Amino acid sequence: MSDDSVVQQRRLQAEIARRRTFAIISHPDAGKTTLTEKLLLYGGAIHLAGAVKAKGSARKTTSDWMDIEKQRGISISTSVLRFEYQGKLVNLLDTPGHKDFSEDTYRTLVAVDSAVMLIDAAKGVEPQTRKLFEICRMRGIPIFTFINKLDRPGRDPFDLLDELEKVLGIRSTPISWPIGMGPRFKGVYDRVAKELLMFKTDGKSHVAKEIMPTKVDDIRSPEIPRLLSSGPSDLEDCKLLHEELLEQLDLVDAAAEPMDLDRVLAGQLSPVFFGSAMNNFGVQHFLETFLKMAPCPGPRKAVEGVIDPANPEFSGFFFKIQANMDPQHRDRVSFLRVGSGKYFRNIPVTHARLKKDFKLNKALHFFAQERELIEEAYPGDVIGMLDTTGDFRIGDSLYENKPITYEGVPRFSPENFTTIAVGDPLRRKQMQQGLEQLSEEGVVQMFHQWGGGNLYPILGAVGALQFEVLEQRLKTEYKVDLKLERMPFIKARWIVNKTSPDFEKALENFRHLAETQLVEDRDKNPVVLFRSEWSVGFVTEKYKDLEFLPVAPLKTV
Ligand code: G4P
Repeated sequence: MSDDSVVQQRRLQAEIARRRTFAIISHPDAGKTTLTEKLLLYGGAIHLAGAVKAKGSARKTTSDWMDIEKQRGISISTSVLRFEYQGKLVNLLDTPGHKDFSEDTYRTLVAVDSAVMLIDAAKGVEPQTRKLFEICRMRGIPIFTFINKLDRPGRDPFDLLDELEKVLGIRSTPISWPIGMGPRFKGVYDRVAKELLMFKTDGKSHVAKEIMPTKVDDIRSPEIPRLLSSGPSDLEDCKLLHEELLEQLDLVDAAAEPMDLDRVLAGQLSPVFFGSAMNNFGVQHFLETFLKMAPCPGPRKAVEGVIDPANPEFSGFFFKIQANMDPQHRDRVSFLRVGSGKYFRNIPVTHARLKKDFKLNKALHFFAQERELIEEAYPGDVIGMLDTTGDFRIGDSLYENKPITYEGVPRFSPENFTTIAVGDPLRRKQMQQGLEQLSEEGVVQMFHQWGGGNLYPILGAVGALQFEVLEQRLKTEYKVDLKLERMPFIKARWIVNKTSPDFEKALENFRHLAETQLVEDRDKNPVVLFRSEWSVGFVTEKYKDLEFLPVAPLKTV
């Protein structure tokens, strides 16, 4: 190795080590936008002068990118927010959450190295969080839990931890523990660092800047209530809270799992933090601890073997395609996660599926509606590329020299289904073309009757808004008018033979069930559509010689 390449290799390793690529998973209204804003403030990525006083308008400046309704699917959303904090480079990937909840939200989780699960203390684990959690678990990535809105009356913290275990099946380890809640909320105690973080606001606004943690040698000390109290008026209450805290900590020490970083990194144990994003309380503490514990980009599976991010040759895979980022130009941007090596402008690459060589020279970074050319990028980074040819599909890989074909991005079970009620017979060819292109882009999934047959495909999408996107894009890009009709299905399961002696015959069963429909996906895999959760459970229980997968079997090439 030449001196130069030794230096480059060291730089590559250092850049990998300082990167943290993650997403926030939550149910709408848990406070994701608020937490994101606060994280960005720490990272200096946004400067909200007077952010609190001008809350309404300040919020708009940063959360427009999440506001799907404004654009009705022509999302201007950025895919990644990027900032530096204490020497770490943070890539926070957007997980569209409200009406634009779609397969993109799931796919994003394939591109991250860890996730932050945000939970509203009053509501606990909600459906969307559960769905997203399942994907994280499938990938075995570390999950950090932030329990939000402690400034409001919420559920008992033990109840919440119990729910994490019962509903999600993950063990947790509280890093911080709340002292009171709602109007009696006094702060949190960091059990690991043995520090108190006091919640002090001026009572009027939410400007409370994070107060520096106070090291406490002994949390049992009779001095603690005085530290917690804001004056003689609440000293007695603070004494009570202190007693409650000690009891609770005894219980936590006895019942909760000890902190074990290896188990956290294996996705088996979730460190839990308590705070209030709106009040900017507990956020800095969370961010700092999270950045220390969360993993940097690691190895990823490819057809050719496991790829180390420190492999000096550049490679990456596409996980998201977004059309019409700029309504003025109606362009299509494909987002690639760098898997190994270093991206630089004009790097020669090969498209793994098409075996096509070209130079990458227009990698872009997006922030809100601004875009800038990226000069270099490292593993864990996400780069956007304008795709004028339509060559990039979700799951496609690019590599610099030696072939690297990453294990694709799975297709997830749609939750909404339609048939095409009316299509213009004179534009059938264009319709077919459009549907094929848009399903390759991952806007919707197409299914056909098992064994072929129906004229029009059945369309499936995770989020119903995707159908509107489809209709709109078919109209503008292919001059095709479609009318879709909703179908009563809510779930798809890919059927794989486990032990059935006659798979074909076993599949025939599903043709005759009233609750299900047997179809095939674009790769001719058998898929069964279900009308209810109940029937998924029933069928899974009944046909034990078959396996029902919530994601399509990965096709790597
Ligand atoms: P989302 O992106 O997850 O959907 O949630 P978002 O941040 O928009 O927050 C949802 C609501 O919860 C907002 O109130 C927000 O101010 C509030 N919120 C977020 N964090 C906290 C917290 O720590 N404590 C309390 N009490 N509330 C919190 P809103 O009334 O819907 O909007 P706004 O008028 O406050 O902007």
